[in-house]
Amino acid sequence: MEPDERALGNAAATVEFEHVTKRYDAGENGPGAVNDLSFVVPAGKICVLVGPSGCGKTTSLKMVNRLIEPTAGRILIDGRDISTEDPIGLRRRIGYVIQQTGLFPHQTIGENIAVVPRLLGWPASRQRERAEELLGIVGLDAARYRDRYPSQLSGGERQRVGVARALAADPPLMLMDEPFGAVDPIVREHLQNELLRVQADLAKTILFVTHDIDEAIKMGDLVAVMQNGGRLAQFAPPAELLARPASEFVARFVGADRGLKRMSLMRVRDLPLHAAVTARPGDDAADALRRITADPFPYLLLVDRSGAPIGWFDEAEIPATGTLSADAAVSMSPLFAPETTLKDALSMLLDNEVQAGIAVDRGGRVLGLVTDGDIAAAARPDGPAARPDAGA
Ligand SMILES: Nc1ncnc2c1ncn2[C@@H]1O[C@H](COP(=O)(O)OP(=O)(O)OP(=O)(O)O)[C@@H](O)[C@H]1O
Ligand SMILES: [Mg+2]
Repeated sequence: MEPDERALGNAAATVEFEHVTKRYDAGENGPGAVNDLSFVVPAGKICVLVGPSGCGKTTSLKMVNRLIEPTAGRILIDGRDISTEDPIGLRRRIGYVIQQTGLFPHQTIGENIAVVPRLLGWPASRQRERAEELLGIVGLDAARYRDRYPSQLSGGERQRVGVARALAADPPLMLMDEPFGAVDPIVREHLQNELLRVQADLAKTILFVTHDIDEAIKMGDLVAVMQNGGRLAQFAPPAELLARPASEFVARFVGADRGLKRMSLMRVRDLPLHAAVTARPGDDAADALRRITADPFPYLLLVDRSGAPIGWFDEAEIPATGTLSADAAVSMSPLFAPETTLKDALSMLLDNEVQAGIAVDRGGRVLGLVTDGDIAAAARPDGPAARPDAGA
């Protein structure tokens, strides 16, 4: 193996901020751009730094690859104080996507992506293969884009190239400063999903900066909310941030629609499901009627042999005698997969003008019922604890 290809297949890194302070103005008491910042990002997690403009996000990120040195405190990567490391060597092990993508205008896209592999002395063929592979990963056709120049790309395409470049040497740690800042909401959504998809396989440690709280909640396993003066207002998983904002500032920053945001983090599988009263075509109607009368929910769900739903019988429409027929069952409620978000589930109930949906497994078999009331209860801060699963 080439010694400089050791970077490939690296495990993710743990990053620790220990009482990190940065004052640009000299003097003990100058205003801090970053003030006593402490948190730990476990290996393989995405930590989002979010907060208003000027709160110290970029400064915090640049201290991790030593483009800026802290005034006090230390940063550890995998337990090692980075101030004892050679900054050049350190930077080669850290992927960095800067706020304005920063591609070299006179280099092709392929050359831009291979900057770090080139510095590491990889053979030219390996550099080229890696650039092509990464273009594929970020969803750009290698044959079309490899030999173009940055000015020949759209803003969104340039941002993908920026992400590909940061991934080039397979670094255990990525720093991303508003990587999707300069694109429209639809492209942004697409790039976010792509990064989450890639991350599901790569499991890098990523420090991701944004000033957009929705992006922070979507992308982060952990979110560090910063406020002016470079102070940490709260460090928590997104669901906890929404359920229990630590201060008035955080509550205002995450917004009045916290409940709705919580719904986009929670999934049908997080809810206790109601058992449905079911019957099969050909079953005795009188027996079905007895069972449904004993249940508080006045509907009977007809299912086929495999347990997949066919349709509903209203209690009032079940014949007193004879058998149940599939033809008499009325239209279906929306079907939810266990991974359907509560936000999507609620939207489907509203669109269908019904109050209950049917949760089904991969085989289409009924798991149970979900009502609009269940969803509303879950979205309340005192509802069942959300299990955040960003990236799933
Ligand atoms: N080189 C510098 N010299 C002096 N002050 C600086 C310097 N760089 C940044 N600052 C100040 O430090 C504070 C934090 O800046 P930083 O760039 O980290 O903010 P940010 O959170 O990334 O903001 P934005 O969301 O606008 O990118 C700001 O008040 C800024 O004016
Ligand atoms: Mg910034």
